[in-house]
Amino acid sequence: MIKILLIHGPNLNLLGEREPDVYGKTTLAEVNGRLTALAREHGAELKVIQSNGEGEIIDAIQDARTWAAGLIINPGAYTHYSLAIRDALAAVRIPAVEVHISNVFAREEFRHRSVIAPVCIGSVCGFGGRSYELGLTGLLEHIKSQKGQG
Ligand code: DQA
Repeated sequence: MIKILLIHGPNLNLLGEREPDVYGKTTLAEVNGRLTALAREHGAELKVIQSNGEGEIIDAIQDARTWAAGLIINPGAYTHYSLAIRDALAAVRIPAVEVHISNVFAREEFRHRSVIAPVCIGSVCGFGGRSYELGLTGLLEHIKSQKGQG
């Protein structure tokens, strides 16, 4: 069984009520439900965490090195400046996909830079809640091809 960790960063617990014109009306529970089902269809198991704290996200990434085959991460605003989260991802060397609900490149300039992207195998942004599904599919294909199953 392929085990995947899905990490939602700060303020994503408010999905559905937070700036719905930007992030849509889908709640975090709905996103997690869909992703869990999609993972299962692909023979994978998903563990999900959401945290508003940088340290807790780093602890989860470090812990994942003992059990996870891959990571999906929406680091929220940490995307744009958290070198500590970037270093944690580089340290564990688990294939990771960066996901954003909004198209960060069509927004304020400070959102155009990701310090996380260089330590990920790929990024998906701009497809609303669907970004997570696209990210998970890409990650699973990557993992399976690395294992020679793809
Ligand atoms: C976000 C984009 C970030 O710039 C922002 O700070 C978020 C959400 C997204 O999913 O579109 O919190 O990561």
